[in-house]
Amino acid sequence: MGQFTTVCTAIPYVNSVPHIGNILTDLCGDVTARYLRMRGDQVFFQVGTDENGLKIKESAEAQGRDPYEFVAEIAQRFRDIFDATGISYDDFIRTTEPRHVAACQALFRTLRDNGHIYLGTYEGWYDVSTETFFREEELKDGKSPDGNEVRWVSEDNYFFRLSAFSDRVLAHIESNPNFIRPENRRNEVISFIKQGLRDICITRKNPGWGIPVPDQPELVIYVWFDAVINYIASTGYPNPGFEAKWPPAVQWVGKDILTRFHATLWPAMLMAADLPIFDTVVAHGWVLLSGEKMSKSRGNVVRPLELADELSSRTGISQPIAVDALRHFLTATMALEADSSFSYEEFDFRYNADLANDIGNALNRSLSMAHRFAEGIVPASPVEAEAEEAVRGAKLEYEIAMADYRIPAASAAAFGLIRWLGKYTDSRAPWALAKTNDPALPGVIRSMLHAVRAAEGLVRPMLPSTADAIAAQFGLPPLSEWDAIGSEESLPVGHALGQPQPIFPRLEIEKKAAPAKSAPKAEKTKPMPEATPETKPAPNPAPAADEQITIDDFLKVKLRVARIVEAEPVEGADKLYKLQIVVGEEPRQLVAGIRKSYTPEELIGRQIVVVANLKPAKLRGVESQGMLLAATDETGAAILLMPDREAPEGATVR
Ligand code: MSP
Repeated sequence: MGQFTTVCTAIPYVNSVPHIGNILTDLCGDVTARYLRMRGDQVFFQVGTDENGLKIKESAEAQGRDPYEFVAEIAQRFRDIFDATGISYDDFIRTTEPRHVAACQALFRTLRDNGHIYLGTYEGWYDVSTETFFREEELKDGKSPDGNEVRWVSEDNYFFRLSAFSDRVLAHIESNPNFIRPENRRNEVISFIKQGLRDICITRKNPGWGIPVPDQPELVIYVWFDAVINYIASTGYPNPGFEAKWPPAVQWVGKDILTRFHATLWPAMLMAADLPIFDTVVAHGWVLLSGEKMSKSRGNVVRPLELADELSSRTGISQPIAVDALRHFLTATMALEADSSFSYEEFDFRYNADLANDIGNALNRSLSMAHRFAEGIVPASPVEAEAEEAVRGAKLEYEIAMADYRIPAASAAAFGLIRWLGKYTDSRAPWALAKTNDPALPGVIRSMLHAVRAAEGLVRPMLPSTADAIAAQFGLPPLSEWDAIGSEESLPVGHALGQPQPIFPRLEIEKKAAPAKSAPKAEKTKPMPEATPETKPAPNPAPAADEQITIDDFLKVKLRVARIVEAEPVEGADKLYKLQIVVGEEPRQLVAGIRKSYTPEELIGRQIVVVANLKPAKLRGVESQGMLLAATDETGAAILLMPDREAPEGATVR
């Protein structure tokens, strides 16, 4: 069986269903686990639910529910959401399971036998919402430092001699620079320990919920002391063989539960029980909504599957691909060192910019040009040196980031390669090489395919369904071995490629209309009269009979669906873009006066309708081989016509 690389994640309370902030901890674990599996490690990836807190019992009772049924139902919802969001766990542990209870009681006995636990009286404040004890002087305006309600507790309880481990924990942190990541969090923990760790109360009077103290069932084990034990319970502790999976390489947590629990209490508990300590704990920042921490208790949440379902209904993409859009947003934009905000606008923006545009164009352009210029076969000409270098560089940058668990930086390395490909394609311009039968063309096509195939491997830990879809369009098996990324074998010469299909259709984002100058006032004081057939103006009267054309006249105009592959400004003309488009398989160049209304990013990858048989003309010295169709608004700004859904490339319009 050999040694496992174990990846652990903080287990959420089951007081309510999860939001995207909770998912972030599991998603970080998942990306790590998927990456390490690709690297060839035998991974053991733990997730689970924290079910013994007082808060959970109170949530159940508030709803008039039996606590066991309540936690079972919510734990199942977490599990369903983890499954639907692609969290590839090997074990889902619930802290109400007998195996966890047994591990918890075994560790409690060991610490009691080793003399690290003693009986005393606890008097102080307890914050039920974070299940944390506070001293009087730690309160702010009678509330916890986070602003939660606290209640007074005075009980005879067991204490863990955490103070006796201050020096050892500090020495461990100082001699293992990677023990706490990222660096700013490590510094926070060091200064917290330097203020002195206090012994911690680790039992509570049994409220009829929780894990009983061995031989003293009138007490239950404090929920945090119990919860951290889940990590080792999941590996089989205290039964023989657990050592194959223990200690973990990494534990993922949110920043709120690092200092007091995962970077001090938990390592001290392991030291006290003479158990090996995990290599690294990584804390990520919070996901904020409208400037506040997203939180189950506060109720200001965005639910992962609702967000994905809404995206699928707006775009027509399947749920796994919509889930990838969420996974992308979280892995690319969340910061480890700081908090990051969620907004629906930013979510849509990232979808269009990174997925519809960047990945969409990389895939579409490489495959469609391979079909157009290389008969849909991977050419034998060598990959160009700069493409080899771009792939090698991105892979290395990714590896360095992941060695330090910097997932956003790894994501940036993968997307950096995809963006590099956009620039490379523009500068090598295969359509221009084709016109002059340049012998470099097959090498350029192979280089483009090489970069996309490598990007498939790089995005796989974050975007597994997208990576599968890219592999399927290439007609190749998924690139799931890290070492194969950028290799000859991953993209065999002579392989017949599939056809490009858009994975991420663009989202139409409503632009907010500029407010009419004096309209609101006028409307309030003097409402507009209701339009009647008589009073309503006909802005576009029907053409007079002599202006009408026959169907034959109309059919002379060849209207076709085209796709924009590039857009760049025409120098010296502030309204014009030079567009490279593809009509079916045929590349064309258009000059269009739409620069005031669209950015190049909004255009690239998009389908439009063009007049394909218009005599070429020169505008500002640049040849235009056709004309696109657009309406104009009252300010003269262009509104592009586009098919209602993805049309076959080059489809005839009539
Ligand atoms: N049950 C404890 C953890 C015990 S681990 C032995 C707990 N649960 S929680 O439900 O409050 O949080 C679960 C995870 O989600 C934690 O890693 C926490 O930091 C994370 N998050 C909860 N809200 C969050 C955001 N708004 N943003 C990012 N992550 C945050 O803590």
